[in-house]
Amino acid sequence: PKYSATCSAPVNIAVIKYWGKRDTKLILPTNDSLSVTLDQDHLRSVTTASADESYGGKDRLWLNGVEEEIAEQGRLRTCIDEMRKMRSDKEAGDDKLPKLSSWPLHICSENNFPTAAGLASSASGFAALIYTLATLFGLLPAVDNSQLSRIARQGSGSACRSLFGGFVAWQGGEKADGSDSLAVQVASREHWPDLHALICVVSDAKKGTPSTAGMQRTVATSPLLQHRIKDVVPARMKSISDAIQRRDFDSFAAITMADSNNFHATCLDTTPPIFYMNDVSRAIVQLVEELNRASEEAGKGKVAAYTYDAGPNAVLYAPKENVQLVLQLVRHYFPNADFDDTFNLLGAGSGAS
Ligand code: DP6
Repeated sequence: PKYSATCSAPVNIAVIKYWGKRDTKLILPTNDSLSVTLDQDHLRSVTTASADESYGGKDRLWLNGVEEEIAEQGRLRTCIDEMRKMRSDKEAGDDKLPKLSSWPLHICSENNFPTAAGLASSASGFAALIYTLATLFGLLPAVDNSQLSRIARQGSGSACRSLFGGFVAWQGGEKADGSDSLAVQVASREHWPDLHALICVVSDAKKGTPSTAGMQRTVATSPLLQHRIKDVVPARMKSISDAIQRRDFDSFAAITMADSNNFHATCLDTTPPIFYMNDVSRAIVQLVEELNRASEEAGKGKVAAYTYDAGPNAVLYAPKENVQLVLQLVRHYFPNADFDDTFNLLGAGSGAS
């Protein structure tokens, strides 16, 4: 017989960035990070996995319709093996369960957005894979999302945060075996429904330096990264969590923008330097800074916050009442810019399901 399950997971955008590994095989980070999970309606990965005795041979995987090799020693292999191990432990405790753990798997995964454009496709992809296998193998809810995040982390670090909705911290942990390196929810999406995110697609071209390679070059060469790890991130993790608890947009925005800039500074401090932002990205930074300055001078709070991952696309966070204004201004000042016409209005999402 054939057993299958289909699940999806959303994209998350970090406000305190993960950049650097202390263990590249287990994917253990050099610092904690914190993200907002976006709305599943807009950016998500959907994965179907089936196990069938009669498939014969090996596990197979299709990504957006194209078969990908599941490399021995690779991240996909690790994730599938870890999930299978959990299923086989379950089977060992119950004779009546079909032996799914010994059958080959066929896995299909689709994104509804361009891959590798700096839009965190690996995060939603691995989170969807892990959640789908957990469902197929009947592991839920005994195995919780934090436990699953430990496995998703081994697919792609940022994936561990996409198991949860709302505001999510990846606690980097201290142990060498990675058992304390996992994601926890800081606040649900319902906690702060007024916060919205807007993605300005500056370019959907494949980015220059993939994050996996880029971050290890930063670890190997950047003195500024050591300062970031020791003196910058720990205080920011605490202050942004507090800002989220208080729904304090001004503090949330200030920390988010400062951390994006600090992250891109460590990229610039890398030898040879890594450039992710382009002229349009920088012009959007200036626009948001100018808007915030004018608003604060008028005795009001900040209008919006920007953040950039390993690519030129801007993600803007803003209270709902400011979204239309921000959209109009960005469109006004960049009428001919290479925007992909998509300004997606997103609410904070609800995690894997
Ligand atoms: C800039 O999670 O893609 O988006 O663990 O090597 O797969 P690997 O890296 P990945 O890196 C994401 C980096 C970032 C910041 C973040 O999401 O925290």
